[in-house]
Amino acid sequence: MSQPMDIPEIVKERQQHLVSLRRDLHQIPETAFQEHETSKYVARFLAEAGLAVDAQVAGTGVVGLLDSDRPGPCLMIRADMDALPVEEQTGLSFASRNPGCMHACGHDSHMAMALTTAAILSELREHLRGSVKFVFQPAEEGPGGAAPMIQAGVMDNPRVDHVVGFHVWPALPKGVIGIKSGVLMAAMDRFDLTVKGAGGHGGMPHLCVDALEVGAQVVGALQRLVSRQINPLHPAVVTVGRFEAGSAFNVIAEEANLSGTIRTMDREVRAAWPERLERIIAGVCGSMGAEYDLSFKPGYPPMANAESMTSLARECVLEAWGADAVAEPEPTMGSEDMAFFLEKAPGCMLMLGCGEPGCVSLHNPRFDFDEEVLGRGVEIYCRLAAKLLGQTAG
Ligand code: NI
Repeated sequence: MSQPMDIPEIVKERQQHLVSLRRDLHQIPETAFQEHETSKYVARFLAEAGLAVDAQVAGTGVVGLLDSDRPGPCLMIRADMDALPVEEQTGLSFASRNPGCMHACGHDSHMAMALTTAAILSELREHLRGSVKFVFQPAEEGPGGAAPMIQAGVMDNPRVDHVVGFHVWPALPKGVIGIKSGVLMAAMDRFDLTVKGAGGHGGMPHLCVDALEVGAQVVGALQRLVSRQINPLHPAVVTVGRFEAGSAFNVIAEEANLSGTIRTMDREVRAAWPERLERIIAGVCGSMGAEYDLSFKPGYPPMANAESMTSLARECVLEAWGADAVAEPEPTMGSEDMAFFLEKAPGCMLMLGCGEPGCVSLHNPRFDFDEEVLGRGVEIYCRLAAKLLGQTAG
């Protein structure tokens, strides 16, 4: 791409089509690993744009490879495909046609931006070297599609050198691009605990082991653990989001079932959690004469952006729209499946600001935004490709 100045014009010409892609996908939301219609739509579009398509990767995942047939690096552009089990309440003309399911996290727009970029770069392929790999992953909202896609080999053939992806972000003003080097999102792990006591008469606690009360002690102990045993400079959150015990007001519960999420940013703090959890729970249960079953399920790792890619992205935004269009978002204890890809190759997740007065948060049944911003995402993808893969690029 000897004349990257053409990019804004090319993107502008595609804006209407970009919006229609997003609206098509918005109408056919599907939840984790059920993205069959979505997957077909994506695969068909990529094939028509002239890419080599690999469908049904790790279930419903799709990979489109744009190969310039000239040696050079491989840039991976990642989009997530899944929707949420949310009943849409936007009242839009292009609202979800699948009851109880909605693209409330903007993954429809992530796909539309990646597809449009694929079409543009395919037309410009004679100006490129190396390759661009478009990766559409299932199940970002859980249980996770990135790890199985990596196991299926998406990082190889050709080997991915750089990774980039966008997330629409209502916390940033419309059109502003959020760029931050380092850890931007937390690791997310899960635990499930059954406390086993001995049930009995509500008036005779001394003859029982009250599982509900022991469970309550565990909840408290976990919160104290965070405040007393974790370095306060390393963020950690434990949330027990589910606690079920008891069947009647005058019966001591035999069992309590708890599930929770643990969020951390530091890899060492995270690695110590299984042992820490076991120690606290064994101690509390042991002291009260209760037994327990504990399972720990590792989720997503912390999401860390590479300095090399964030500074390149910043350069692109500055060249396109100047300093007012860049912001450094605050890290969040939310988590992202993208983290797995970023562990395998340097890259970054960029935030595409779509906030304006009255805009609701992600996952809200009324979530929507001004589609004008989507062109900005495409433009940054194309500018990054030009910098990394342009024939004159270093
Ligand atoms: Ni999302």
